[in-house]
Amino acid sequence: MKKTRILTGITTSGTPHLGNYVGAIRPAIEASKKDDVESFFFLADYHALIKTDEPARIQRSTLEIAATWLACGLNPEKVYFYRQSDIPEIPELTWLLTCVTSKGLLNRAHAYKAANDANREKGDDADAGITAGLYMYPVLMAADILIFNANKVPVGRDQVQHIEMARDIGQRFNYLYGGGSKWDQMSWENFRFDEKGKEFFVLPEAVIDENVATLPGLDGRKMSKSYNNTIPLFEGGEKALEQAIMSVVTNSDRPESADAVKGSALYQIIGAFGGDFHQAIAQRFHQTDPSARGWGTLKKHAIETVNRAIGDYRNEYARLMANPDEVEDKLQEGAQRVRKIAEKRIAVIREAVGLRSLRSREQKTEAKTSRVEKPTLQLLVYRDDDKTFAFKIHDAKKNVLATQSGFADPKKAKDAAQSAMDALGNA
Ligand code: TRP
Repeated sequence: MKKTRILTGITTSGTPHLGNYVGAIRPAIEASKKDDVESFFFLADYHALIKTDEPARIQRSTLEIAATWLACGLNPEKVYFYRQSDIPEIPELTWLLTCVTSKGLLNRAHAYKAANDANREKGDDADAGITAGLYMYPVLMAADILIFNANKVPVGRDQVQHIEMARDIGQRFNYLYGGGSKWDQMSWENFRFDEKGKEFFVLPEAVIDENVATLPGLDGRKMSKSYNNTIPLFEGGEKALEQAIMSVVTNSDRPESADAVKGSALYQIIGAFGGDFHQAIAQRFHQTDPSARGWGTLKKHAIETVNRAIGDYRNEYARLMANPDEVEDKLQEGAQRVRKIAEKRIAVIREAVGLRSLRSREQKTEAKTSRVEKPTLQLLVYRDDDKTFAFKIHDAKKNVLATQSGFADPKKAKDAAQSAMDALGNA
């Protein structure tokens, strides 16, 4: 059975909170137990360097995140659980991908553009204070994903563009080194390539779970470190959880019914950790005297619900935090296993781009002949006079094999062209 590879990285700059647990950790661990998947979970500490220059914070966050995943039931023997900076093949691939990545693609990254906009608003130079690390972030992320040929990447909505970029970069590498000829332009609004050749990289797909993606934080907005509205998952123990939940903002209406509390953050927190919310609330409100029907009662209910769900994990977390050597050992074992795969992959990719031993002359000529012998299809995506996008596929004699026009969006045209190329390639 061909297993689906699921891969995701966690930047080691923060402390896990309830939103991380509900939105990422819990579903990832659940998914990793299935027989038809291979899961890769890693601590993205190179990415953390882009966000913080506090060494102690990175080390501490690495321990907290690793201990959290292990405490929540991740089985490090079934999944690949590792630290990014223990895998030197990742930065190596980053450079090889950097050399096929168009600068324009990186210019369009949301995070970079947002930093530019913020600078302009302040009247500063657009690139003030922006490191090349921030600019290159998507390429490092593409290397994380492409090195292991991951099929699916569970991420938050804010990361979807990065996965699309990883696809673009992987696809471009595949065309450049996989037996096609070079694109005549960096931009795919008007590009050509020859027949699909060898696929060095599987093109990953982003996976967003609509149900769990957002848990509200203390102020009702999405729980996020950047809003400073988080409820800690384990750090600070039960007490910190209690204090945080007691400070969740509520409105001034009394929560007399489940309907009345539906809009509150508590509703969603209880729902995310508990069984039947409506039943629980109904019982609680109908049995207590009216003076106990306030938000405080509901908050206590939320605390109990969360404690019931994660209390045991919290004890294991505390144990691991007191034994960092044990956590380090687990990460080293993970790195050893995963490097066996990474080493093989990088060897193929180095060979493809021409970083080769001088003893390997045969391979060199072989690669060259296989490249020219292939019959070629040509794809052209272009802009019609009416400004819509269209594509055409020719064979080597310029016979048009497929064409379609009238796409409003170049990406749609590109996707349709890709399907048509696939269909022709398989025929
Ligand atoms: N950038 C991701 C985030 O901030 C973390 C990350 C790094 C990642 N490399 C990755 C996620 C590879 C998925 C795949 O959430």
